[in-house]
Amino acid sequence: MPDTIFKNVPGMRNAAAVPVVEVDSLPESLFNSKYVDKSQPCVIRGAVRGWPAREKWRDAQYLKRRAGHHPVLFFPHENHITYDRMMAGREEMRFADAVDRLFSDKWSVATLGLQEELTELRADVGRFSFLTQAQQSFLYPPIRFFVYRNAGSTWHYHPMDETLMCQVIGSKQVGLVSARTPFQKTLQEIFLSEDYYEDASACLRLDNADLSWFTATVEEGDALYIPPLWWHGIIPKSESFGVTAAVPWRSPLPVIADTIRKMASGDIEMLGGTSEAQVQALVDVAKQLGLERELEKVFQLAQVRKLG
Ligand SMILES: [Fe+2]
Repeated sequence: MPDTIFKNVPGMRNAAAVPVVEVDSLPESLFNSKYVDKSQPCVIRGAVRGWPAREKWRDAQYLKRRAGHHPVLFFPHENHITYDRMMAGREEMRFADAVDRLFSDKWSVATLGLQEELTELRADVGRFSFLTQAQQSFLYPPIRFFVYRNAGSTWHYHPMDETLMCQVIGSKQVGLVSARTPFQKTLQEIFLSEDYYEDASACLRLDNADLSWFTATVEEGDALYIPPLWWHGIIPKSESFGVTAAVPWRSPLPVIADTIRKMASGDIEMLGGTSEAQVQALVDVAKQLGLERELEKVFQLAQVRKLG
């Protein structure tokens, strides 16, 4: 299994375990007060245990029959944050042909880029007992699927929105470190350039950094709660076909306010795209919070970086 995403990051050697809670002993009020309101990650054991997808999607024929016609990009490598690495070796094909490859031993590492939503598979996705009240996320679509074989994701963070990373098929290990640290700029330089992916010395600058690294094992049927502004790197723990579903929702107002202020101060970059409707929703909430000017600054900074 590829482990470069952890191997060259020395902090992962002594990472502390993320707390684990059983889904049956996690009322919504506790999930919100202990984890979401405080932006503290946790593993929820059995969170997606009952989803029909967990059985149905093991069957390649089922996936092909239901959603085989959709166009996808096939990448013969892991999920990368840098464009050139991500686009290397890509091939356009139908989801059906990509599924054949992902179920075949001929391909050791691969992941798909889904160009449109696999709507026919939505009915196989369930709900969460500990998250019944949630508003639409600002930056991400309501659900995104990672369909892969033996592939992880390089280190990145979500500048906004809460996320449940659900292991529908296969297991993964996730490393985490908070972006709310004086070392954020250094983390950003190292992780966003992805040099550590080949160069073991890229993280030397972090040798004396006082950072708290965490690790979480997300077994099949579990979900990992990933708050905004937490760097996370992901490696697969199973070599065969796997599916992860990422379900985002809007953060509590104090978390949104804090994030907008941090981004306006230039400490955190706005990563990722969003739709116009979602931007409008974010503008409306910023108005409500009295942070319109700060949000404008965030957009200006993002624009400058894009042009630069
Ligand atoms: Fe992520």
